[in-house]
This record gives sequence, structure tokens and C-alpha cells, in this order.
Amino acid sequence: MIPVMKPWFGTEEAEAAAKAVASGWVAQGPRVREFEDAFAAAIGARHAVAVSSCTTALHLALIVAGIGPGDEVIVPSLSFIATANAVRYVGARPVFADVDLATQNLVPATVQPHLTGRTRAVILVDQAGVPADLDALRDLCDPLQIAVIEDAACAAGSTYRARPAGAGATLATFSFHPRKLLTTGEGGMITTGDGAIAARLRRLREHGMDVSAADRHRSQQPVIERYTEIGFNYRMTDIQAAIGLVQLGKLPAMVTRRRELARRYQEQLSSIPGLLTAGDPGYGETNYQSFWVLLPEESVVGRDELMRLLAEDGISARRGIMAAHLEPAYAEATSLPVTERLTTRSLILPLFHDMTPAQQEHVVSALTSALTKSKSEISAPAR
Ligand SMILES: Cc1ncc(COP(=O)(O)O)c(C=O)c1O
Repeated sequence: MIPVMKPWFGTEEAEAAAKAVASGWVAQGPRVREFEDAFAAAIGARHAVAVSSCTTALHLALIVAGIGPGDEVIVPSLSFIATANAVRYVGARPVFADVDLATQNLVPATVQPHLTGRTRAVILVDQAGVPADLDALRDLCDPLQIAVIEDAACAAGSTYRARPAGAGATLATFSFHPRKLLTTGEGGMITTGDGAIAARLRRLREHGMDVSAADRHRSQQPVIERYTEIGFNYRMTDIQAAIGLVQLGKLPAMVTRRRELARRYQEQLSSIPGLLTAGDPGYGETNYQSFWVLLPEESVVGRDELMRLLAEDGISARRGIMAAHLEPAYAEATSLPVTERLTTRSLILPLFHDMTPAQQEHVVSALTSALTKSKSEISAPAR
């Protein structure tokens, strides 16, 4: 089966993890600090705070942005459900807005209709790695003192206006789940330019303690820690950070490779009339965390049927990005036409670092032949 995504690991990651274990320090410690510094430098942010996932990163970002009960936070419904869930964690209400078709991201025109006196923040997602237009959204939100948090879960390695995605945000959150380019198994990061916010994030991820366990351990004198506010255990381990440091060094090569593969998909799929594919927005470059295609309006093959046909051909595809407002956990009567079209008619094709030309050609030919099937061929029972 051709997988939809596969992490790009070598022996270096295994060796780095083994060294962390051999050092005897496996919880959050010096390697986490080193990973944070290297990540901040790579992203071009002043501070980076490592956490256990992007979900926990979003939770903490909302807390430090001062969001709480009674507040409304505008989010795209078209996102992994964690984006909306984090808003619920702080007792606020997620308000679902529609997205732009080409980028799958929020834009001022889709956010504006949802602004109310209770809107306190917008979570701007760089969907599937495609950078969202942060400056345009801040032009709308900054004068209204509405915080913009960038959910860059998928976007490490993407660029926005010639800078790394996330660099320009007051708060940006990243994921290191294996569906992303850079992976630590599970893991996340928050970047910010504000030192006081970074210090509070470091306390919040570690039970609200004013001295980290690692600093206490290093001290020659007994240190009595204080718990300044209610915090969480959202720490990353040093084993994960050791892997993350190796993966971060490989990130530029991963992006280059994915962009080559994506270009080949775009060329080879251009012969299918009406098929829309993932691509760069005018103002930046995607890392192609996911290569999605939107089925032509006139296609007689439905998306789920197409996935079934691909699976029969040994190809593992995934449905496109989910829409939270259609899930039982939210089930809202809101109408979001672009979101609904994208979530029901798009799918994600296999794309991974060591994908071979033969594998890619197999995907293209299976997709092309499935999309050119007539209705009778599809509904005919298999013999
Ligand atoms: C846009 C977005 N936000 C948040 C998350 C949650 O990330 P994690 O799995 O690291 O908690 C994901 C994961 O896929 C995501 O795509």
C-alpha cells in the first residue's frame, strides 16, 4: 500500500534518542532547551516554548491571550477539530467562519461577518501548510484589539512574505505529530516575540512552577519552588527533543523534496479538466504538508467512492480537511458553503520524502482512470 504520509527518519534520530536515554535525563531538560533555541532561530521568532502537542500549545496560547468564558473566538470550521476544541478548553465559544477556496484559509472577508462585541480572538490556521494572509487579517483585527493566534500546526518550513510562517505572529503554534514534516512522535511548540509571555508559557506548561524541575536539579542549593497559578503538565521530553533537533536540521531538505513532488503532481494532473490542486498563494510558499485535490464539479465519481477505488489500487488517500461544524461534537446549523464543498469533495494524495517516481505515476494513473470512469462503470457490481 502506498501510504499517504511517512516520516523521513534515518539512524541519526534513533542515535539521538538513545543518547538522551543514556544521559539519564529523559524528562524536559537540556535537549528541550536546545530544541527550543534552534527552532526559534529557524522560525525567526525571539522565543520558542516546547509543549506536548499543538493542541496543548493552542490551549496555552489562548490562556496567555486572556481568552475565557463569555468570549468568542473566530476559527475556521475547516480544520482539525483541535483548533475549535482549544477554544472550549478555556470556556470560550468557537465561532465558525468560512474559508477561501484556493488557500483553504480564513480571509478578512470570511471573518468580518462574524465579528461581534464579544469577539476577542481569531485563530488563523495555515491549512495543510499553506500560509494564511496574517497581515491582511491583522489589518482587520488589530484596530479592534482582537488577538490573532496563528495555528501553524502544519506549516513549519512554509514561508509567508519571504519569512518563515509563524515569524510575524504574536503567538504561533506548531505540531510535531507524524502527519507533519518535522516530527517528534507527539509534540508542539509555541513561538512569540514577547519575553514575559514566553516566561509565563514555560510556567504554565509545568504546573505553574516558578522554577523548572531541570533548573532545580542543576542547583547546588535546595530550591523551594512556588506555584504561581494553576498550570498543566504539557511538557515535552528530552527524548522527543533529541529527535526534534535532528529533524529540524532536515526540514529544509524535506520542504525542497515535497515541493518537487508537488510540482510533478501538478504537471501530471493538469490534464484532468476542472481538478483543483493545492498550490502556493501569491504571497508565500507552502511546505505541502498535505497535497489535496478538489474534484471537478462535473465528476460522477464521488470522493468516498474515489478513495475506495484508490484503495483497491493499493493507494492510501485521506479525505480532505474535516469540518468541525458538521461533527456531532459541534453540530451547528451554520451554513459554510466553501468549507462544505472542500470537506466533501476533496482528498489528500500520498506525498512523502522518499516517494518514488513509479509510486507517484501509479497514483496519477489510478486517479486519472477513476475520474474518467462513467457512472455505469462505477455502479456496476464487481464480478
Ligand atoms: C490545524 C491543526 N491544528 C492543531 C492540530 C493538533 O496538533 P497535535 O496533534 O500536535 O495536537 C492539528 C493536527 O493535525 C492541525 O492540523
